[in-house]
Formats: sequence, structure tokens, C-alpha cells
Amino acid sequence: MKSSTIFSIIFLLTICLATEAQQCRPSGRIRGKKAPSGQCNTENDSDCCVKGKMYTTYTCSPPLSGHTKAYLTLNSFEAGGDGGGPSECDKKYHNDSTPVVALSTGWYNGGGRCHNNITISANGRSVVAMVVDECDSTMGCDAEHDYQPPCPNNIVDASKAVWEALGVRKEDWGGLDITWSDA
Ligand SMILES: *[C@@H]1O[C@H](CO)[C@@H](O)[C@H](O)[C@H]1NC(C)=O
Ligand SMILES: *[C@@H]1O[C@H](CO)[C@@H](O)[C@H](O)[C@H]1NC(C)=O
Ligand SMILES: *[C@@H]1O[C@H](CO)[C@@H](O)[C@H](O)[C@H]1NC(C)=O
Repeated sequence: MKSSTIFSIIFLLTICLATEAQQCRPSGRIRGKKAPSGQCNTENDSDCCVKGKMYTTYTCSPPLSGHTKAYLTLNSFEAGGDGGGPSECDKKYHNDSTPVVALSTGWYNGGGRCHNNITISANGRSVVAMVVDECDSTMGCDAEHDYQPPCPNNIVDASKAVWEALGVRKEDWGGLDITWSDA
């Protein structure tokens, strides 16, 4: 083999390994437990864990770009809402009329984004929202998480104010492909 060919092969392998390192791989799996009766609120498209089903967990989220792709979901941050306990950042509940979000564990960054604002874009519109909570990708199917599965690693879980600001029709609230960046 010509040395230039060998060089090309090594070069390509290096690129593959570098790309690999940037990807976010699962950290483990948990087995679903059935919610005790009266627990797990299925309003607003929340899922409940299925007994015996395996759920993938993540400690990372996909790498950030200027327009990071994510999936927008709907959450209530008020007391008695489907968000479970108070927000992780300040141990308080938040008014759903204010644009607030929870981010998947990797993006939540151990609280590093708490009270920072992010810009969410979709539908040719954008809205600035404050990070107040974690959408836990590492745990789930327990009382603390209202017996809901662990969060996928690419979620921006938003109050209704965010959905309104993006001009999404109420019938379509619940799931939307978006991009976001630090504001
Ligand atoms: C469902 O979402 C709506 C809009 O944010 C909210 O008013 C309602 O309280 C939520 N329901 C629950 C159970 O969280
Ligand atoms: C949330 O804010 C709106 C508008 O400012 C207000 O009308 C509403 O009473 C507040 N809700 C709660 C639960 O504080
Ligand atoms: C985020 O936006 C809110 C509302 O506009 C503002 O009160 C807050 O200071 C902002 N946070 C940061 C870290 O700039």
C-alpha cells in the first residue's frame, strides 16, 4: 500500500473516533414500576411507566451548536401540576403564564443553566424562556418523578406561555421539533 493511502485511512479513522466521542451514549437502563393508584398524572400527554418495561437513561445530552435541535414538550410548573415537585433550581413552583423550561440532564448541566435564559425557535418565531428545572434523564418511574419514565436526552419541557409565544394552536400543544440556544 502506498503511504499516502495508509495516511488517508488513519486520517478517516481519526475523524470517525472524534465524531463518536461527541455523541451522547446511554448511561444505563431502569425497569419500569407501576404507579400506585392515584399517582402518575396522564394529563398533558405525560407517560406513565409500564411495569417491567426497560427505559434508557442518559447523563449527557447532544452537543450544543448555535441552533441545537430539541423536542419541545408541555409541562406545568405550578403546585399540583404534572411537573411533580417544585422546580429543581430554586425549590419553588412557577406560574405557567411565564415562559419557563426544564432541560434534559445533560443540558441542565448540574444546575449550571439555572435562571439563565434560552432562546427557543420554531414556526419562524422565537421566545426567550428561563431555565428553572431539570428534566431528569438519569432517573424516573418513582414517586419523585410522578412515576413517569426518565426524560429523553434532547428535551426542552416548557410552560404553556412558551407554546403560546410560539403561536402553536392549542390542539397541537405537547410535542414539537425546535432549536434553542443560550440567550
Ligand atoms: C396541563 O397543562 C395546562 C396548560 O399548561 C395546565 O393549565 C394544567 O394545569 C396542566 N395539567 C396538569 C395536571 O398539570
Ligand atoms: C399567574 O400569572 C397570571 C398573570 O400574571 C395571573 O393572572 C395568575 O393569577 C397567576 N397564577 C398563579 C397561580 O399565581
Ligand atoms: C432572564 O429573563 C428574566 C425575564 O426577562 C429576567 O428577569 C432575568 O434576569 C434573566 N436572567 C438572566 C440570567 O439574565
